[in-house]
Amino acid sequence: MSHPESTPSQVRPITGHDSSGSWIPIRRLNNRHRPDVLRHLLALSPDDRYLRFEHIATDEQVQRYVDQIDFERDEIFGVFNRRLELVAMAHLAFDGGTEGLPADTAEFGVSVATHLRGRGVGQRLFAHAALHARNRGVHTLVVHALSENAPMLRIARSAGAAIERSGGEARARVKLAPDTLATRVGALVDEGVAGVDYGIKRQVQRVDRLVSAIAGSCT
Ligand SMILES: CC(C)(COP(=O)(O)OP(=O)(O)OC[C@H]1O[C@@H](n2cnc3c(N)ncnc32)[C@H](O)[C@@H]1OP(=O)(O)O)[C@@H](O)C(=O)NCCC(=O)NCCS
Repeated sequence: MSHPESTPSQVRPITGHDSSGSWIPIRRLNNRHRPDVLRHLLALSPDDRYLRFEHIATDEQVQRYVDQIDFERDEIFGVFNRRLELVAMAHLAFDGGTEGLPADTAEFGVSVATHLRGRGVGQRLFAHAALHARNRGVHTLVVHALSENAPMLRIARSAGAAIERSGGEARARVKLAPDTLATRVGALVDEGVAGVDYGIKRQVQRVDRLVSAIAGSCT
């Protein structure tokens, strides 16, 4: 079943709030975060790996995927908890012009730790990725998902996606509006504030370790 072409989407918020109104710090990840990405993905259940990769990826296949992430070409976004564990991530792949995709296309893939689901984190990562895609001149954001993946398709649909289904697979295409001053400033502000948040968490962790070490040496 296919739906009519969607109109360019602004893709909901530029602000980083989840469905409860809490702010979600989303950081751009780099090469240093490869081990965090691997840990996060290996923690996904077989069912979730099936939904994420469209096959039950073995640990070796997950490792290969992580090894091959191109942090220079693509943008990888992550959400860290207070212990600085990566609890959600999105891969915005700028692979337009390859694999039969038009040049002004990017692909989106995402995963959220089970205990954080249903709180708007996936939706928020999608909006964040769409914002960055617009700023990179992308006109269409593509998501490949299994037809049974209700939350993913709901996220895409609420962003105005046209969804094509073929067998058990679905391809959602979201038309993006061109970038504006607001999308550019929004991305910079998000990035800056998330960086500060990460710095504070790291500092708190250091202090916690120091306090534990002092407490340990006193017993
Ligand atoms: C898909 C995934 C990222 C969604 O993350 P999430 O943080 O739980 O999603 P959100 O909380 O933003 O919810 C998104 C929408 O789906 C809806 N939803 C959540 N769980 C649902 C379910 N089981 N069935 C139907 N809809 C559901 C939410 O109500 C929300 O819709 P709304 O904004 O209209 O209320 C998460 O389920 C996941 O990591 N799955 C495994 C990996 C995967 O499937 N990745 C996608 C393929 S690349």
